[in-house]
Amino acid sequence: MEVVRTVRELRSARPALSGRVGFVPTMGALHEGHLSLIRAARSSCDSVLVSIFVNPLQFGPAEDLGAYPRPEGADLAAAEAAGADLVFMPSVGEMYLPGGDTRVTAGALGAILEGAARPGHFEGVATVVARLFNLTEPDVSLFGQKDAQQVAVVKQMARDLGFKTEVAVGPTVRAADGLALSSRNVYLSARERVQATALWAALKEGESAITAGADATEAERSMLERLNAESEVAVQYAKVVHPATFVGWDGGPEALLVIAAKVGATRLIDNLPVYRDQLAGAETKERN
Ligand code: PAJ
Repeated sequence: MEVVRTVRELRSARPALSGRVGFVPTMGALHEGHLSLIRAARSSCDSVLVSIFVNPLQFGPAEDLGAYPRPEGADLAAAEAAGADLVFMPSVGEMYLPGGDTRVTAGALGAILEGAARPGHFEGVATVVARLFNLTEPDVSLFGQKDAQQVAVVKQMARDLGFKTEVAVGPTVRAADGLALSSRNVYLSARERVQATALWAALKEGESAITAGADATEAERSMLERLNAESEVAVQYAKVVHPATFVGWDGGPEALLVIAAKVGATRLIDNLPVYRDQLAGAETKERN
């Protein structure tokens, strides 16, 4: 595996990647969620390119940019073991040139839910992903369902700006108790870690409600009740939305349950796609 840190190095290493090139952009602190995407790229592509860059543009002023974990050695070892051929690990100065001021905005989709809770977040994501797509020229780029609205923003951006890459989505990887893996889970105290499982429990309750015929308001109430039962959990939103537009669910065959909550000082998000044709009470599998 080769590691490059500058745009110049990337431009000279990229042509050596053969065949179908899969690209997995990350902010590092790699866990099984990231690694599942790298492995998926390994099995479906000829070459695998990974980026590790904690993108300041997508963090708000009061957010955890400074504290965000950066275990560089462990990340490189994990990326290599999962099958990466080339890792692009630039500095901030390498990604954002002095005086650079161009931004990619995500429009209406970028202004709701996560976009409303984190102003500027999706502009930061769309801008860095556009730059990364230009630099890496992937045939397919892989993103996690864990960040469902980010997937929608990236798909819209790739289509609107005419990027050639296919945007593929991998399922959310969870701990045994259901908590979605996240680089931010390391911030949780033992007590908060236990209470954080309420997000998954609430999603499953919302799913049961919908498959049993509930409307969005009823399903949202059941999610909120479950979340509010935990003293350390402060809900930011718990909604049933349309999985493509992220506006209110119209009762159609597909819905997406989305939750954002602070657990102690740590902000977590999770989501669950729900298909209304699922039989009430039946064992369900998470799909994309
Ligand atoms: P990061 O949070 O590091 O996540 C990188 C990729 O891993 C994203 O596509 C994310 O959805 C996916 N991922 C994270 N947790 C996951 C889990 N539990 N299961 C499956 N996939 C998971 O998302 C970003 O970085 C950034 O916004 C980025 C796209 C790199 C742009 O800066």
